[in-house]
Formats: sequence, structure tokens, C-alpha cells
Amino acid sequence: MSLPHSIHVVTHPLVQHKLTKMRDKETSSANFRRLLREIGLLLGYDATRDLPLVRTQIETPVAPMDAPLLDGKKLVIVPILRAGLGLAEGLLDLVPLARMGHVGLYRDPRTLQAVEYYFKMPQDITDRDVIVCDPMLATAHSAIAAVDRMKEVGAKRIKFICILAAEHGARAFAEVHPDVPVFTAAVDAKLNDHGYIVPGLGDAGDRLFGTK
Ligand code: PRP
Ligand code: URA
Repeated sequence: MSLPHSIHVVTHPLVQHKLTKMRDKETSSANFRRLLREIGLLLGYDATRDLPLVRTQIETPVAPMDAPLLDGKKLVIVPILRAGLGLAEGLLDLVPLARMGHVGLYRDPRTLQAVEYYFKMPQDITDRDVIVCDPMLATAHSAIAAVDRMKEVGAKRIKFICILAAEHGARAFAEVHPDVPVFTAAVDAKLNDHGYIVPGLGDAGDRLFGTK
């Protein structure tokens, strides 16, 4: 399957192993939550490779040195509620000083369109790198709506992290937002009539929070 250039599949064995455990319907909510957090950290590691650095003068216990530090204003992590919260935990482990924004969206079960119910961002979003995260990119309606809103408020450098995309959704997202790189652990071939990814992992929010 050849995918658009903006879609990056992270094939690291630890990521693949953890995703398989998450797909397994026997995996408990507690383990699902832990695995989502761990995958979030690993995908975030890949997605933050190009963050800019600045040199700064420090003193080690042995000698002065000119050493690299992250440059610019703090990164903003933006989970799409609800399930994005679980992925954001891992990203926060990676970048503890990051700011957080929240986008509340749910899929209308009949139309599969994304309905917004909450939106709150830190200040100076135009000057910050932004990572929008949601475990699932199915039809991509939610991801597209969230990134549309981020662009509306002025965000310029945006990345999207999910753990699982449907091929259809990945293509749809890349067509609307070709400037937003997507990092995912896998791309599944199908969506069913209810907009669920097949084979997928089921409803990420329900599995994360133990709801039905
Ligand atoms: C799920 C998931 C994504 C969305 C993906 O959320 O967490 O946000 O569906 O589907 P899409 O690509 O077709 O838009 P859901 O709407 O079930 O809300 P929840 O996280 O509150 O359970
Ligand atoms: N949302 C989910 O949680 N799972 C899917 O398979 C599709 C959308």
C-alpha cells in the first residue's frame, strides 16, 4: 500500500508489539490505558525529531560546555476528547513542560460527522509547535475538524499522532491537510458500515475508560 508522503508508519518493534496487545479484546482497560500511554511516548519520540535546538552555555561537574536545549516557546499537546487523553499522557511523559489544549469532539453515530462541544487553547498558539492526538483516525472527520480549528486560531506547525488509521481516513486527512504530518503505528485496510476500523481495536474511548 503506497501512502501519501505525510503519513508516517512507525514500525519500531516495541510499538508494533504494544499495538497488538491493544487490539486484543481480552486486554483489560487498565492494560489498555498503560499501553496507550507507552505507545504515545514512543510515537511522540519519532514525531519530535525535528524540534529546533539552541546552544546554551552550561557547566558540567567537570568543565564548561556549549550544549543543546530545545528552542522556542513550549510545545502544545492537544488531545481530542475523550480518547486522546490517554495518548496525551505518554506525550506528557516525553515533554513534561508542554502546554495542553483540549478539543472536545464526538462522532454523530448516524452521519459520522464530528460535532464540537469544547475548545480551549493556551495563548500564543501561533508561535508554538502543536501535536494533536487521538488514538483513532477512521473516517478522519474528527482529525480534520480538530486541525481545521487549530489552523483557524492561528497554529502553523501542527503534527497529528494516532495509533491506528484506516487507509481511507489517512488518505482523506492527507488530502485536506497535506502540510500536517501524521504519525501512526499502523494503517488498516477497511472501515465497516458504522465507521469502525477493521480489524482495528474497537471503540478506543470505551476501552480506555471502561464505558460501553
Ligand atoms: C472516536 C475516536 C476519534 C474518532 C475517530 O471518538 O477517539 O475521535 O472516533 O473517528 P473518525 O476518524 O471517523 O472521526 P468518539 O467520537 O467515539 O468519541 P469519544 O472519544 O468521546 O468516545
Ligand atoms: N473510533 C473508534 O474508537 N474506533 C474505531 O474503530 C473508529 C472510530
